[in-house]
Amino acid sequence: MENFVAYNPVKLFFGKGVVKNIGNEAIKHGTTALVIYGKGSVKRNGIFNDVETYLKQSGVKIIEYSGIKPNPIIEDVEMAAHLGTDNSVDLVIGIGGGSVIDTAKIVAACIPDNLPAWDVMTSKVKIKRALPIFAVLSLVATGTEMNRFAVIQNQKEREKIGFGNNLIYPKCSFLDPEYTFTVDTQQTAYGIVDLIAHALENYFGKGDAPLADKFVISIVKEAMLIANPLIANPNDYELRARMMWASTNALNGTTSYGRVSGDFAVHAFGHTLSLLYDLPHAATLSIVYPAWLKYLEKLVPGKLETLGSELFGCDETNSFNEGLTKFFSSINCPVNLAEAGIDKTKREEIKELWIEKDV
Ligand code: NZQ
Ligand code: ZN
Repeated sequence: MENFVAYNPVKLFFGKGVVKNIGNEAIKHGTTALVIYGKGSVKRNGIFNDVETYLKQSGVKIIEYSGIKPNPIIEDVEMAAHLGTDNSVDLVIGIGGGSVIDTAKIVAACIPDNLPAWDVMTSKVKIKRALPIFAVLSLVATGTEMNRFAVIQNQKEREKIGFGNNLIYPKCSFLDPEYTFTVDTQQTAYGIVDLIAHALENYFGKGDAPLADKFVISIVKEAMLIANPLIANPNDYELRARMMWASTNALNGTTSYGRVSGDFAVHAFGHTLSLLYDLPHAATLSIVYPAWLKYLEKLVPGKLETLGSELFGCDETNSFNEGLTKFFSSINCPVNLAEAGIDKTKREEIKELWIEKDV
């Protein structure tokens, strides 16, 4: 095992009704909150209303910025940061999935020193502080609620990149599994794929971390066990809760401590596909994984065999890759470009971007 520092300062509230704590927590940081959300799902399903009610009860005023798109864009980060600065907000609250919460994280990093958002993302400027960040999770997938990362897209620069810094851990995250009942079947399946991918990206990283490997296997097993029953019963609280906690743990340090680094090649390839074709994040992962595993079969055959026997009871007649690909297909996620409607004529432009960006 490598040396490591285990650090995760997120105060995480988990379970039914936990958002009732948001007002008491928020008022510790100030009286005006910039509340960021997406294209309206959280207004329709009542989550926004809950948050607003509890904030008001504690005397916290809200400034709203909405319209964040899946695969969030730098222009929204800039505009939300200006709105926050103009209104002297004290904290930033994201209500949504990864796209919204990642936007909130970078907005919070830009406001105190009026920093240009893309310079923050590219580390051209170094952040020294950030406003307190709160996350109210409405979609299970990314793990952003308990990690130090944000991923933002810049169409002009032709980049979708991640940024990591201890200053952008949420101060508080609120995880109510009931808030995810309205997530549709496809998006639920994407969440399963993303959380499995996060566990695997860590597993295929450098260095030996036997306990972290066992966490990976447990998390992937849990996700596969839950997937089909949950898709059939979207309002099953226990299944939603199990998926939520598995997802948080897939990318909050649990699966990485003791390694030199994670792999994250599949995410890097996937981000280029989101950039070019605006595909949902997890669809890019279910497309790239089967191809990437063929490459890994030559590099780390032992690691794949372990996964194969642990997760699919594989022997010499079948492989982990076959099992995983079948599983992704069984929950209706694309396992190649054609299934996502991207034909062979696009191959050249994909390769060009990989070369240009040195993926
Ligand atoms: O915009 P609204 O109306 O809110 O609809 C959203 C959106 O269309 C909808 N949704 C969210 N909660 C819902 C709901 N619909 C019904 N009921 C609810 N309760 O879901 C759609 C997708 O939302 P999005 O936030 O884009 O999904 P996800 O959580 O998968 O986030 C994807 C983004 O996170 C990045 C990805 O690259 C992508 O940009 N990632 C962030 C990571 C991190 N910060 O650690 C790591 C990940 O690997 C990933 O890269
Ligand atoms: Zn991901």
